[in-house]
Order: sequence, then C-alpha cells, then structure tokens
Amino acid sequence: MFSRLREDIACIRERDPAARSNWEVLTCYPGLHAVLWHRLAHAFWVRGWRWAGRFSSHLGRWLTGIEIHPGATIGRRVFIDHGMGVVIGETAEVGDDCTIYQGVTLGGTSLTKGAKRHPTLGRGVIVSAGAKVLGGFTVGDGARVGSNAVLMQAVPAGATAVGIPARIVQKSGDAAREQAAAKMGFSAYGVTQGDDPVAQAMKGLIDNASGHEHQIALLWQAIEKLSARSRELPVADCVPDDACTTERFDAEELNRLVK
Ligand SMILES: CC(C)(COP(=O)(O)OP(=O)(O)OC[C@H]1O[C@@H](n2cnc3c(N)ncnc32)[C@H](O)[C@@H]1OP(=O)(O)O)[C@@H](O)C(=O)NCCC(=O)NCCS
Repeated sequence: MFSRLREDIACIRERDPAARSNWEVLTCYPGLHAVLWHRLAHAFWVRGWRWAGRFSSHLGRWLTGIEIHPGATIGRRVFIDHGMGVVIGETAEVGDDCTIYQGVTLGGTSLTKGAKRHPTLGRGVIVSAGAKVLGGFTVGDGARVGSNAVLMQAVPAGATAVGIPARIVQKSGDAAREQAAAKMGFSAYGVTQGDDPVAQAMKGLIDNASGHEHQIALLWQAIEKLSARSRELPVADCVPDDACTTERFDAEELNRLVK
C-alpha cells in the first residue's frame, strides 16, 4: 500500500513542475486524494458492497470536487491535476500513467444499463482541461486530447485529437500541404483555422488545385516538346505568352478571403 502511495506521489512530482515536496503533494493535491478514495470505493464495489462503494465515492467527491464512479477502473500512477469538475463514469477504464486535467468528463452517451458506455484510455494518455470524452471507445496508448475538445470516436495510439467534434491532427498531411502550398508562393497554415468548416473546405480545394496545376504543367511540357519537334525549333522558342505561363492559381487571395 505504501509503495503504491510512494509511486503516486513520485508521478505527481515528475509531471507537475509546481510540486515542491512529497508532503505538499500528500496534503494539498486533490487528484491524489480522489485516487485514494477511489481505491477504497472500488474495493467495496468489487466485493458487492455497492452502497458502501457509492457512499465513499460520494465522500471523495465532496472533499475533492472529483467524481469517480466506484465501478471505474483506474490504473497505476494516474495523475488528476487540479481535478475540480472531473467526472469518470462507471464503465470507464483509465490506463497506467494517464494524466487528466480539471473539468474532464469520461462519460457515456448511451443509457443502456450494464453496457460499456464510457471510454477506455490506454497507457500514458493525456486528457487536457475541459475535454469531454463520450462513448465506449478506446483512446490509444500515448494519445492526447486537446483542451475543451469533445471527443466521440476512437483515437489511434500516439495521435492528438482537438476541437469540437474532435478531429485527429494530421501532422504529416499538414506538412505535405504546406510543402505544396509553399511551391505556389504562400503558406497553407494561413488558412488553417481550427475546426472552421470553411477553412477545412478551403484546404481541400487548395490541395485539389495544386494537384491540377501540377498535372497541367506536365501537359504543357509534353505539348511544348511535341510542338518543337514538329516545327524543328528549340523548345524555348515555342513557349507562347499564354495561359500556362501568365495565369496562376491565386492562392494568396483565397487565403485572405478565408481569414
Ligand atoms: C493537447 C496537447 C497535449 C497537444 O499536444 P501535441 O500533441 O504536442 O500537439 P500540439 O500542441 O503540437 O498541437 C497540435 C495542433 O493542435 C492544435 N491544438 C492544440 N490544442 C488545441 C485545442 N485545445 N483546440 C484546438 N486546437 C488545438 C495546435 O494549435 C496545433 O495546430 P497546428 O498543427 O495547426 O499548429 C497539449 O496542447 C497540452 O499540453 N495540453 C494540456 C493543456 C492543459 O490542459 N493544461 C491545463 C494546465 S492547468
């Protein structure tokens, strides 16, 4: 029991730069107190002493502002930072080394008794302040949920989900888009506006337009080569001052409109 308490305190000192001593953590961290109350409540719950489980969970909530249903499964070294307003539902499972900030709900959307209604967090998941994770799906190991996100679908291991409704941040996709946009002389990140659907639509259009522009350039090259060959002229003399060289996709203007 004491070794478990020691690791609870150690994990808080590792993850909270504001924690100055073990004594401070033991006496002033409601997240630690809530986890300790939950251990007692859960022990009652799994022995079938349901009222005792509910009542000790209720006392823990009263003292800490953190509500953990006694049926929830909480792993080792789980750190609930600040904690006020955290709600963890009956069928939720929280893996080892998870960090949960204030105002987080691990809730359900179904009212079916006995069913798995609440999420499962893998190991080392971070759920930022105010995020709502709703449903019986899994958030993979090491995944992160941004503050105030409303997450309603599974998240793969290591991914970051942000926004309402939460979407996975596509870091590699964004990098490719940025590269394509840079070739056209502007920054695609200029049109990244979080979850704004217009901005999302613009991203799609820009990707599409840059793909078309590339294909048109290839076609023009082929036409120029054919034309030079048939007239036996150097390729440079055959390049007309026409659409292929004078008209450009006005991405900067689109960027300004979307801002
Ligand atoms: C959520 C978190 C874990 C994400 O970390 P990460 O995986 O390193 O991701 P990044 O911070 O690089 O953010 C990735 C993208 O998501 C965006 N993002 C991050 N959090 C967001 C949020 N809550 N809402 C909307 N977008 C968000 C970033 O702006 C960035 O967008 P970009 O790629 O277009 O620039 C991190 O922001 C965090 O530390 N959260 C905890 C904060 C918290 O609750 N603190 C409470 C202290 S009391």
